[in-house]
Amino acid sequence: MVKQAIIPLAGLGTRMLPLTKALPKELWPLGSKSILEHILDECFSAGVKQVIFIISKNKNVIKKYFVKNKILEKAVKNKPEILKKLIYLNRISSKIKFVYQDKPKGLGHAVMCAKKHIKSKYFLLLLPDDIIKGKNCTKELITINKKKQSSVLALKKVSKKEVTRYGIAGFSNNKKFKINKMIEKPSIVNAPSRYAIIGRYLLSKSIFKFLSKQKSGKLGEIQITDAMNAMLLKESFYGCKFKGKYLDCGTMNGYIKSFIDINK
Ligand code: UTP
Repeated sequence: MVKQAIIPLAGLGTRMLPLTKALPKELWPLGSKSILEHILDECFSAGVKQVIFIISKNKNVIKKYFVKNKILEKAVKNKPEILKKLIYLNRISSKIKFVYQDKPKGLGHAVMCAKKHIKSKYFLLLLPDDIIKGKNCTKELITINKKKQSSVLALKKVSKKEVTRYGIAGFSNNKKFKINKMIEKPSIVNAPSRYAIIGRYLLSKSIFKFLSKQKSGKLGEIQITDAMNAMLLKESFYGCKFKGKYLDCGTMNGYIKSFIDINK
């Protein structure tokens, strides 16, 4: 069974500056709870037992969000609905492990930081910018992993114009979604399909071997797509055309639209 999930939270959030200077976007509200709690709900209801948060010293406020605060609990002791929420956050904190990334050296590097904590052959990776409403995408990935015994990536069909903004998957078998290549932000003519890789991955532990061989790119960052491409030559990857509605919380425009959508 897949029981562990990594949630990388150590990025700088530059697209949402200056707001992210003081409050990480993962703690921004989406409906009545934070974006991060939506991600945790998805994990726990899919049977995940431990979540590994990759954070940085600048984002310690994320840790604070989950820590018990006796003064606040006392202040709301006669407001059971609010007290219940505080107690819930503190309770789930026992399932969260905080791991620090010293510098934002890319998503691939963030994942590497969790290496020694991953126990089983497969683990999940969820990016909090991507919220999937209506259906549990993590559950869908786990179902495919059980059937195929392989890594699985969530895929979203995008318009022809949009392929240039995403990592795009190509397939050796279109019907079964067996992936044979991944191209980061291809031009429209070079895109192998219109299926974009979005922020839900179920990965075999061997990804760490490929990540450790990756050289940093132009900006000194280690990218996960490069490591997955190298791994693709040795191990299979399947795509999951998930059923829920995709909400992009990574840009201001996307966040505003997502906020409206989640309240519908
Ligand atoms: P992004 O590259 O989208 O960066 O990271 P970001 O910080 O979220 O936002 P922008 O692009 O600067 O506006 C994808 C995910 O990987 C994490 C981020 O926190 C985000 O969840 N990440 C990224 C890390 O944990 N460490 C890194 O070094 C880079």
